[in-house]
Order: sequence, then structure tokens, then C-alpha cells
Amino acid sequence: MYREMDFTEISGEALEQLQRGAFLTVSDGERANTMTIAWGTIGFMWKKPVFMVMVRYSRYTHEIISKAGEFTVSFPLRGQLKDALNVCGTKSGRDIDKFKECSLKTEKGQAVDTPIISDCDIHVECKIVYKQGMDESSLADIIKESCYAGGDYHVLYYGEILRAYRK
Ligand SMILES: Cc1cc2nc3c(=O)[nH]c(=O)nc-3n(C[C@H](O)[C@H](O)[C@H](O)COP(=O)(O)O)c2cc1C
Repeated sequence: MYREMDFTEISGEALEQLQRGAFLTVSDGERANTMTIAWGTIGFMWKKPVFMVMVRYSRYTHEIISKAGEFTVSFPLRGQLKDALNVCGTKSGRDIDKFKECSLKTEKGQAVDTPIISDCDIHVECKIVYKQGMDESSLADIIKESCYAGGDYHVLYYGEILRAYRK
């Protein structure tokens, strides 16, 4: 049973959990994949509630999300799925089926075709409204050194939050 919520109601718990890990799930209609994320923002832009996720070019997830129009983010708030967060944050969907490997149950999104991870507590479903590869020349040196020593910059995907809900 899910309760729909305003994005302002989920943002505190979602951002707190995000730092420990959440599942970014993507599908281009043919392939689906999920990966652990810890960076992102929730905000209000272009008159819309927006969730922004950062995906490095090297990720299999990037291969898929770059062709997709949407994504979901699922947050486990009670310490569950810790092993799955670890596997999904270290193994690539190019090499293994992470849903199978981690026995992750999924269900169809309510407003998007991309699945959500069932055993999580909060879910957001997003439609991509803007994407932007990072511009290295505009980045502070301190962040370049601490986060991009090996290059592999992020692409920022801004998703309009179509639905936010919790169990
Ligand atoms: C806690 C945690 C947070 C992570 N956050 C991000 C992130 O925000 N963006 C990103 O591109 N990779 C992030 N990663 C790395 C990816 O999850 C990891 O490289 C994953 O294996 C990529 O899977 P894929 O190749 O199937 O897309 C994170 C990893 C961990 C463990």
C-alpha cells in the first residue's frame, strides 16, 4: 500500500538516505538496470519539482539513461537491502543482472514504465526534462582534484518528479 506525498514531505528522509545509498533504476524499453547513487538534489525549477541525479559516462546506467526519457529512485530507509546497495554500487549491469543477483523485487512505476525497487520505503518517479554533461572548465579545482582525478565526469539528469510516494 502506497501513500502519495508531496516532494517537500519526502525530501528530508530521502536526502538523508541518499548519502547512504539509493537505487537509481533506468530502462530504455529493452534493457533495465539499477545502480547505487549517493549524489543528487531535490528542488524546484522551471515551475516543477525536480530530482537531479549524477551519472558518470562510464556507467552502464549512462548507456541506458541517455536513451531513456525517465528514471526512478528508490530509498530503503530501515537499513534493509544493504548488501544490494553494495553490489549495485560496485558491479556493472554490463556483467551481471543485478536484479537477479541481489534478488531485487521490482514493480512497475505508477506514472512511468521504469520499475521501482519494491522493498524500499520511498520512491520518486521522474521524467527527464533536462540533461547536461559537466563542463570541466567551469568546475572548482578543489572538486576536480577530489572527485575527477581520473576524468570520467558526470552527466546531470534533471527529472520532473511525476510521483513521490511511500509505503
Ligand atoms: C554509495 C555509492 C554511491 C554511488 N553514487 C554514484 C553516483 O551518484 N553516480 C555515479 O555515477 N556512480 C555512483 N556510484 C558508483 C556506481 O553505483 C557503480 O559504479 C556501479 O557499479 C555502476 O553500475 P552500472 O555500470 O551497472 O551502471 C556509487 C557507488 C556507491 C557504492
